[in-house]
Amino acid sequence: MSPSSQRFLWSISFRTTAAEVPFLEACLDPMCESVSSFGDEDGGPWRVEGIAVDEPDRARLQAALNAAFPDGDAPAPVIDLIPPRDWVKENIFEFPPLTVGRFFIRGSHFDGPTPGGQIPLYLDAGTAFGSGEHGSTAGCLTCIGDLARKLRPARVLDMGCGSGILGIAAAKLWNVPVVATDIDAEAARVTALNAAQNDVGHLVTAVAGAGYSAPIVRQAAPYDLIVENILARPIRRLSCDLAQHLAPGGVCVLSGLVVRDAQLVITAHRRQGLRLVRHMTINGWRTLVMAKPR
Ligand SMILES: C[S@@+](CC[C@H](N)C(=O)[O-])C[C@H]1O[C@@H](n2cnc3c(N)ncnc32)[C@H](O)[C@@H]1O
Repeated sequence: MSPSSQRFLWSISFRTTAAEVPFLEACLDPMCESVSSFGDEDGGPWRVEGIAVDEPDRARLQAALNAAFPDGDAPAPVIDLIPPRDWVKENIFEFPPLTVGRFFIRGSHFDGPTPGGQIPLYLDAGTAFGSGEHGSTAGCLTCIGDLARKLRPARVLDMGCGSGILGIAAAKLWNVPVVATDIDAEAARVTALNAAQNDVGHLVTAVAGAGYSAPIVRQAAPYDLIVENILARPIRRLSCDLAQHLAPGGVCVLSGLVVRDAQLVITAHRRQGLRLVRHMTINGWRTLVMAKPR
């Protein structure tokens, strides 16, 4: 989900008990892009929160609650509009250089050297997600860096590119063409700028489009590496497209999922013939590496 300065999001939250958490998660799941639960295993109150892109349909939510709590004792939802944040202003001064696996992520305000052996990624805080700090981005970067030991991809796809950080990392690591795509046109624009800033503008083609819909995404297939850091639900929805666009022997790196959602994502991709070869977790965000047989 892009923290673009234009985007409003909706929060649906409940204060509840541990026993009610799975029921509320099931109610929120069909209408939210992400659902998170926070609480204490030893008792005490829990908070379940769903984040939705569109204004929640209150009648539909109430019907789901009535079905899940037939005795009429469902907790009351609190629905809030989350105001857009000025991401640039909040982050430009708080973005110290960061080492993630083989990559050294540095803003233009940093004038120190890049540590020996690291690949510099020049990225400023901007209107698209992907500074490297988030556990899902860090997981993907680490896995991409490690894959370089045995993978020599000829073509790479960065699905849900945000700032373009993962596609740019791949272009710099392997010096190969990368298609980067995002449902958010602003992310595609930022990716093109960041690719140019990293001297890989000639390698990275950035286009806007939902999933695999952009013509260039289909024309450049099959890919030897697809990175998809979105969210569990869209990743599952895209599993069939991913398998079709991945070359035999190709690898995908999937992230944007919390540990609890990993099994569903793995199952969706196993159904498409892929097998799990690695997983790692950073700050509760799980990254999966799955391979397509030759
Ligand atoms: C978590 S950000 C990841 C950004 C960057 N790749 C990274 O690893 O930091 C997810 C990105 O996926 C995009 N996105 C969400 N749903 C999508 C879809 N169905 N197709 C393409 N992009 C999508 C969002 O706009 C957002 O930029």
